[in-house]
Amino acid sequence: MEKRVYWLKSSVVRSDELLEGIIESATDAIIAIDEEHKIILFNPAAEKIFGYQVEEALGKDLSILLPEKVASKHFSFIKEFLKTGDSPVIGKVLEGVARRKNGEDFPIEISRSATKIDDHWIFTAIVRDVTQEKEMERRLLESEKLAAVGIAASRIVHDIKNPLIAIGGFVFSLLKKESSEEKRQKLELILREIKCLEKLLSDISEFAKPLKLEIKEADLTTVCQEAIEIYRPRLEEEGIEIELIAPEKPVKVFLDEARLKEVLFNMFQNALEAMSATGNGKLTVEIVPREQTVQIIIRDTGPGIPEHVLKQLFTPFFTTKKKGTGLGLSISHKIIEAHGGKIKARNYEHGAEFTIELPYRPG
Ligand SMILES: Nc1ncnc2c1ncn2[C@@H]1O[C@H](COP(=O)(O)OP(=O)(O)OP(=O)(O)O)[C@@H](O)[C@H]1O
Ligand SMILES: [Mg+2]
Repeated sequence: MEKRVYWLKSSVVRSDELLEGIIESATDAIIAIDEEHKIILFNPAAEKIFGYQVEEALGKDLSILLPEKVASKHFSFIKEFLKTGDSPVIGKVLEGVARRKNGEDFPIEISRSATKIDDHWIFTAIVRDVTQEKEMERRLLESEKLAAVGIAASRIVHDIKNPLIAIGGFVFSLLKKESSEEKRQKLELILREIKCLEKLLSDISEFAKPLKLEIKEADLTTVCQEAIEIYRPRLEEEGIEIELIAPEKPVKVFLDEARLKEVLFNMFQNALEAMSATGNGKLTVEIVPREQTVQIIIRDTGPGIPEHVLKQLFTPFFTTKKKGTGLGLSISHKIIEAHGGKIKARNYEHGAEFTIELPYRPG
């Protein structure tokens, strides 16, 4: 094949210097491997993205940069290419997953090429870390989804509310006139069920409304302490102990106190429901100030959260409970995000752990 030249030969640049400059300064990772799947080129951007120093990466099998499943498939693509001279992954921009030195898997965009030099094939990949783009996409989708649910929910609330109020009114007037004890009990039961439905409707419209926060400076320890004292009797009734671990100095944070308490109540209620089956649980609320954030870590000693539940925890109306609405955590999520914070869940060795992170400046 005739060699084409891509730079002006009369200019002062030397081709190897030019190439090195490009590889050195590229913001995308450029990685080349030989026919044995060994890394033979690893540029500074690759060091930054993958966390390996070039000395560590060179000569190693490419599988150090890939999750196990992808690594074996990748090697078979190479072998196939060496046999047939063709591969479906060469010359295209594809999406994939790669692995950093710290074990974290992350989304990438990758384009691969194959070049023959002195009878040997060299495979080069240009890899872009698209973690941030994916995260933005996910957030956008999430907020679109929430907005759509919000609109649907407010329509439903609107259509159910008036008939429900009318039914409640009729039942109430029947109850006032009724003298038979048996019938009165039934009417009271209907009224109680109506109250539950009204509560559900108000939860839904609360969730559908845009949040308006009343932000004031407050001591986070006091806010948590007050929320705990309100919930303590309910917890103690189920034999559950609750403890606050907080720094000695006040932790001054700008927040909507009532809303934050609402979040804590949701967490306490969930923990209570998770632990009441076994009884004798322990709930710990820990306040941990950091450089730019303060964390409130809430740990229970319940059964923990199953993997499939963990994925949908903050999805509106997702519940595993017979009498749950599935709005507690999604409302909490919305409140914390409105504060510019984050809320995360995971399991620790004795149960479920929720971490609320709020913006904070130590001072
Ligand atoms: N501390 C916890 N331990 C185990 N599972 C939990 C815990 N907190 C939440 N969950 C799981 O997450 C689900 C969603 O919680 P969320 O508070 O949003 O809704 P809910 O409690 O089911 O209903 P609602 O709060 O609206 O009455 C629960 O149904 C439960 O399966
Ligand atoms: Mg709940």
